[in-house]
Amino acid sequence: MKKGMYFILTILIISSFILVACSSNGRDEVDTPPVASEDELVLTLDELAKYNGKDGRPAYVAVDGVIYDVTDSAMWGDGEHNGFEAGKDLTEEIKDVSPHGVSVLSRMPVVGTVSE
Ligand code: HEM
Repeated sequence: MKKGMYFILTILIISSFILVACSSNGRDEVDTPPVASEDELVLTLDELAKYNGKDGRPAYVAVDGVIYDVTDSAMWGDGEHNGFEAGKDLTEEIKDVSPHGVSVLSRMPVVGTVSE
């Protein structure tokens, strides 16, 4: 009987050590702020203007400060789409004029942000 008690006690002590050693407070994951991708662009509107999809250049559009790459979209041939041109901030146009609104942007790769 006594022997059995010692055995159970030993097992309890060993398992509590294992539990403490294995438990993690998860702080590493929670406290790490999102890091911007190293090759993400930060462009002024003047700099954005050259990404107009002409002469083999990429076609970028800005909406709400985020720059999207529309180069590979069949709907943006030569950087043009229903009378709109790439290389510009089209926030108001996509929200107020387009029939689709901003939802189509989720299909376009984000390449950067517009600087203040
Ligand atoms: C008269 C205004 C516009 C019309 C009639 C128009 C029409 C369309 C249509 C019919 C499509 C394809 C259907 C769909 O994907 O839902 C489309 C896609 C798209 N439009 Fe517009 N659009 C207009 C303005 C704009 C503006 C101002 C932007 C500014 C960024 C824009 C960005 C896009 C994008 C990114 C796509 C998705 C292209 C793809 O998936 O390849 N559109 N548009």
